[in-house]
Amino acid sequence: MSHSFKESLLYVENLSIAYDDKIIIKDVSLIEKDVVRAGVENTGQTIAIVGRSGRGKSTFFKALTGLVQPKTGKILIKDFASQEENAAKPVKEGDIGFVDQKYTLFRHKTVTQTLQFALRKSTLSQTEKDKKIKDYIHKWGLETCVDKYPNELSGGQRQRTAIIEQLFSSDHFIIMDEPFSGLDVGNIEEVKKAFDLLSETSEYNTLLFSTHDIKLAIELSQSIYVIGHPTINGDKKDYGTVVAKYDLREMGLAWNEYGEDHRKLYKEIVHQMMIS
Ligand SMILES: Nc1ncnc2c1ncn2[C@@H]1O[C@H](COP(=O)(O)OP(=O)(O)O)[C@@H](O)[C@H]1O
Ligand SMILES: [Mg+2]
Repeated sequence: MSHSFKESLLYVENLSIAYDDKIIIKDVSLIEKDVVRAGVENTGQTIAIVGRSGRGKSTFFKALTGLVQPKTGKILIKDFASQEENAAKPVKEGDIGFVDQKYTLFRHKTVTQTLQFALRKSTLSQTEKDKKIKDYIHKWGLETCVDKYPNELSGGQRQRTAIIEQLFSSDHFIIMDEPFSGLDVGNIEEVKKAFDLLSETSEYNTLLFSTHDIKLAIELSQSIYVIGHPTINGDKKDYGTVVAKYDLREMGLAWNEYGEDHRKLYKEIVHQMMIS
């Protein structure tokens, strides 16, 4: 199926992060663009970050969400508030939403109250906010939950509420660090469903997630980055960087049934992880 790329949504250039002078990741650069597909109304972007433990995936996410300051480099995102077509702005805390594994929500707020609170800084009118909340509640199958508190929700419902809450208070970007780890099959399906909803709700919605499950990464994403310790001129470094990148759209593998070519890519990614 044909697709084309539009403006850049996320632009990372020569990013490096250090904790107490120890370089954790270095020379991380990437560009992710808005993609549109013929015949599909909304196609959000799903991007997987894989790599062995301790290579810097979570550290990279902390830089994207503004929780740690880069030592060098820059992170720009599309400036949705600007009228100019290709306007970008440096990312700051709050611009990119983060959904943690426990789907933390306000204990004393109902789903509706949580989503109203998430929109408090929005420039929409109250009527528009109410409509936006109603639309999401409907599309994300949360009608029975509007007046419920977090302890009355299932794990899946909590997660969907947490994702919408982060989407409302951020700029179309969501990060999920290892959303599949430790889940049973049913819960994995719930998370996959949330990924689909996210992508179907707006063409700009962009999800970055990390996982140790390479098959899931290939099934769910259109871009995969392997973070590992590079070998440069025969010298193995001890910081993380992007050692391999795969654009599954350009490879003809995105949005397709998992098949022989996907299995080949699986082996290739595992190999890249093993050597880095
Ligand atoms: N707050 C911190 N202070 C010092 N070192 C840290 C801190 N957080 C992570 N690290 C180190 O940074 C490296 C990368 O960690 P992390 O980003 O969590 O990797 P990953 O998510 O890929 O498993 C590890 O060596 C880890 O010990
Ligand atoms: Mg991690």
